[in-house]
Amino acid sequence: MSHESSYTPNSGFERWMDERLPIIRLGADFLSFPTPRNLNYLWTFGGILTFCLMTQIITGVVLAMHYVPNDKLAFDSIEHIMRDVPWGWLIQPIHMVGASMFFFAVYIHMFRGLYFGSYKAPREILWILGMLIYALMMATAFMGYSLRWGQMSFWGVTVITGLFGTLDEVIKGLGTFVLQTILGGYSVNGATLNRLFSLHYLLPFAIAGLVVLHIWALHVSGNNNPTGLSVKKDSDTVPFHPYMTAKDAFSLSVFILVFAWFVFYVPGYLADPINNEQANALKTPAEISPEWYFRPYYAILRSIPNKLYGVIFFALSIVLWFFVPWLDTSRVRSAKYRPAYRWCFWLFVVSFIGLTYLGGKPPEGWYVFWSRIFSIYYFAYFIVVLPLLGLIETPLPMPNSITESVLGKLGGGGGSGLPQGATALAEKR
Ligand code: HEM
Repeated sequence: MSHESSYTPNSGFERWMDERLPIIRLGADFLSFPTPRNLNYLWTFGGILTFCLMTQIITGVVLAMHYVPNDKLAFDSIEHIMRDVPWGWLIQPIHMVGASMFFFAVYIHMFRGLYFGSYKAPREILWILGMLIYALMMATAFMGYSLRWGQMSFWGVTVITGLFGTLDEVIKGLGTFVLQTILGGYSVNGATLNRLFSLHYLLPFAIAGLVVLHIWALHVSGNNNPTGLSVKKDSDTVPFHPYMTAKDAFSLSVFILVFAWFVFYVPGYLADPINNEQANALKTPAEISPEWYFRPYYAILRSIPNKLYGVIFFALSIVLWFFVPWLDTSRVRSAKYRPAYRWCFWLFVVSFIGLTYLGGKPPEGWYVFWSRIFSIYYFAYFIVVLPLLGLIETPLPMPNSITESVLGKLGGGGGSGLPQGATALAEKR
């Protein structure tokens, strides 16, 4: 869907600008971008994520003005921000709670894409850019968490960097070499903290760059929508402004209310209280577990008794997401018309939430048992369900167009044996 520019400069200045740097045209075209008329509130999370990224960057830059990346001073410098720096009591919790809100929004955004088949042609690159953003978000959040230099930060870094040590089992000495290079020493130390701080400051800007590409790709393919049907005629779309801007503004307001509730009433609710204790290399906490948004992967890592295989499956559990556009063989995008897939999808959501819960529990007894069950389904979803179900499932009849779906008139199957929307997708390929 390429969008013809409908902008005409209204003043002498606009004409002058338009011939030199058509940035006003860019903004105007953005606002008039045709969006499917049936987008629901799940399509507001992209805007919410943009807000989250900006909030993290702004609060983070201010925090960095007062934070000291030194292993003797880091913990106290955050106490200093909270107690002495003007507005520090507000900026620090916004940044900390903001990380959780960011991940909450990104999971809704990703699972929305998974449900409505937003990764299918022609949106594969859009999806891959999204996954790259997600991978960088995880790296950034991990590094940011370590900066507090509390007990859980320190031991979390020790455990996660320690995973590189398993490379020794592949090539002798390689793991030790990589590990010591990353740490800048034999164990987590002040040099490690410096590296983590430097990269934690850098990566959000790389994420911002990827977001620009992500939105560019979106503007080439156009939005998917709850029916998964491609846009066919003008009546299928409405301009982004005021229709989506109004929806985005409402959704963002509700999101900010929830965000503010956490910041003002329970800022530490999602964090581990052990992290309020300064890092101590001589005292390992009884349980080491990451923040909630990493726990599904952590549960997978721990559910495998062999360390090397644990690391391999841990990495695979993230890498598989990148390949979803090619793993899914169905010609129908939206789960709305895929009854069997819907069940598999919700089972995947249950497994993901189950793993999130179990990743915060000690690795023993029933916790391990259920981690294994959910992990098996997690991988089966990618490797078995997505490729096979698309080949054997009979989709439900689909409307002929987005407009028809909104007006509630169902069209026939089109005689090809495939629902009409599926035919359209097959033609596009
Ligand atoms: C900083 C993080 C991110 C930002 C700021 C962002 C921003 C956006 C925006 C503004 C949109 C259009 C509005 C919408 O559909 O909600 C969008 C769409 C999309 N995003 Fe993201 N995104 C981010 C992360 C991700 C991730 C991690 C994925 C997962 C792979 C992803 C996949 C997609 C897809 C597939 C679409 C098209 C959806 C559709 O039209 O149905 N995004 N993104």
